[in-house]
Amino acid sequence: MVFKVTPWEVKGKVDYNKLINQFGTKPITDDLIEELEKIAGKSHFFLRRKIFFSHRDFDNIIKWYKAGNEFALYTGRGPSGNTHLGHLLPWIFTKYLQDAFDAELYFQLTDDEKFMYNPDLTLEQTHNFAYENALDVIAIGFKPKKTFIFANTDYANTLYKIAIKVAKKTTFSTAKAVFGFTNETNTGMIFFPAMQAAPCFLPTILKGKEVPALIPAAIDQDPYWRGIARAVADKLNYPKPAQIHCMFLPGLGEEGKMSASDPDSAIFTTDSEKDVDKKIAKAFTGGRATVEEQKRKGGIPEVCSIYKYYYFLFEEDDKKLSEIFNNCRSGNLLCKECKAELASRIKRFLKKHQDAREKAKDKLDLFIVKD
Ligand code: TYM
Repeated sequence: MVFKVTPWEVKGKVDYNKLINQFGTKPITDDLIEELEKIAGKSHFFLRRKIFFSHRDFDNIIKWYKAGNEFALYTGRGPSGNTHLGHLLPWIFTKYLQDAFDAELYFQLTDDEKFMYNPDLTLEQTHNFAYENALDVIAIGFKPKKTFIFANTDYANTLYKIAIKVAKKTTFSTAKAVFGFTNETNTGMIFFPAMQAAPCFLPTILKGKEVPALIPAAIDQDPYWRGIARAVADKLNYPKPAQIHCMFLPGLGEEGKMSASDPDSAIFTTDSEKDVDKKIAKAFTGGRATVEEQKRKGGIPEVCSIYKYYYFLFEEDDKKLSEIFNNCRSGNLLCKECKAELASRIKRFLKKHQDAREKAKDKLDLFIVKD
């Protein structure tokens, strides 16, 4: 089946090597990982496992930093609903980067985008979700003095002035080619990429000196940087933003990414213990039809959504991960106990996150910037 990756839709089995070629990015090499880990003073399993697998100019950002210069992190969320575990992937890594480089983080909540894109959502709803999602961002543990979270409609006075400069240098034919817009696309969405590009240049504008942005995100967001922000940067005399891309945390079904539009495929940060148990019980595995057959033939971890959750988030130790893999393959580990163990790890994780999320309600003012 052919796969599709756009900022609004991810379908099919994604071939990440193909994306590197299609999008013209570079794979993250072992040398680059080593250099980053030296600066950070610790390794991160997202790098070791190549969950963050691709970049553009990340090597140049490291050079820039080593020469004594400042850069800023930039990432975001489209607030169309609750946050799921997939969204946390780039944010967890962004925190690692913030700690490593002591960098400022600019975090955009695109309530405007989700209102204009989704026919069923009101602006009030997306604006509310923006502040709900901000709690999840704060719960990750970013530094309050160095983290600036903004909802587009509350920071429009600042962002709009940058966005119109971007939009003036972007033709409709470019936007169409990059995003696949058609005659049926509303004109708000056609302008919107300029709003998502704007924060790439915000640190430079606020500081009055060259402060390039480094954007950690899944690779679905790449068209904004490749097609718009980087294309206009030179023309506007701003530094080109750099990117570091991650893979998609898969859904709990047979194929496809974890997606908010398919609630059973996703574990949300607001899910109850019961929700987790129910979703994990229903999840697609690489198990056989009967216990007897599984003991005899072994399971197929390569296709198992449960195994993928250990791989992406819930087993950092490479040795223990390969034990899970081998025990499944040999038929020693059955789906029932493997699922029960994962469910209990997810519930532990959510409990901690939900506590931090609750506390974040009192910290919003420390993080939110508005006009
Ligand atoms: P959104 O809300 O679709 O996604 C938020 C962030 O989560 C990533 N992501 C995933 N990562 C791993 N596994 C998944 N299954 C998964 N699903 C989504 C996305 O790549 C993104 O990093 N328009 C944007 C909001 C935005 C933004 C940005 C994102 C504004 N400025 C700068 C990244 C960087 C959006 O709707 O993201």
